[in-house]
Amino acid sequence: MPYQVSPLKAPIGAEVLNLKLQGEIGDEDRSTLRQAWFEHKVLLFRGQTLTFQQQISFTQVFGELEAPVMHLLKYSDGTGQKSSVPPEITIVSNIKENGKAIGQLGHGEAYWHSDSNFIEEPPAGAMLHGIETPPKGGNTSFIDMVSVLETLPPDLRAAIEGRYCKHDPSLSSTGQKRKDYDEVTDVSKSLGPEHPLIRTHPVTKQQILFLGRRANAYIVGLPIDESEDLLDKLWAHTMAQNCVYEHVWQPGDILLWDNRAVMHRRDSFDDSHRRLMHKTVLKGDKPFSAYDA
Ligand SMILES: [Fe+2]
Repeated sequence: MPYQVSPLKAPIGAEVLNLKLQGEIGDEDRSTLRQAWFEHKVLLFRGQTLTFQQQISFTQVFGELEAPVMHLLKYSDGTGQKSSVPPEITIVSNIKENGKAIGQLGHGEAYWHSDSNFIEEPPAGAMLHGIETPPKGGNTSFIDMVSVLETLPPDLRAAIEGRYCKHDPSLSSTGQKRKDYDEVTDVSKSLGPEHPLIRTHPVTKQQILFLGRRANAYIVGLPIDESEDLLDKLWAHTMAQNCVYEHVWQPGDILLWDNRAVMHRRDSFDDSHRRLMHKTVLKGDKPFSAYDA
């Protein structure tokens, strides 16, 4: 039986049913899966138990693999990951063994963000495979940034047309300062790249509000107080929209998101429960806007 793509009961996202992920996926199915990913922005696959290698192969259905963030940023303090974990996989977990974290991000809230927005060519997408999930909390939510831009009031849209935002790399999505970076005291001088605030999706050509993350963001060319004020208005508008899918994890779930078209966040959860996820990342390209020649 061919697989089905069933939209979730939410403004974005779809569940893919009756697809065997472990085996070889034919060219036609690869193509329709990619189309479903672009159309729905978030794809859910339930009841899966993929090995590291199977997850890597399945991720490649959607494009070329990107190195995990700790390699992109060349962390000097190590990742805690065991040597048995392939370099293409990031362990996202609060689990500690012998007092040492085996993965990233702990149990705290992860604020709204796009993955690795602070590099020149941010990832096109990411895949998270839930292995162990807590009974409560740790939900992952996605917000449709195409829809957020479409509902942006005209004055706000006019204020950002053709403008760029600087994306600071010094903080993780849980707000922890990365060890190799100094604290940012002047957001206009952070080390991150400048990306257009309104970007064009390279495949769908849709226009997207590209905020990246709020902390240490700066709209290039504005006095800092004006940049802060405009960013606050953009974020207030974004947070007031309900174009969100909130995923309640079960072991065996896989989520794939289009990192260009959505932002995501994670709830905190009780650290006495274990949460273990395997993450893979897809290579992206340099964000561009309709203003670029
Ligand atoms: Fe993330």
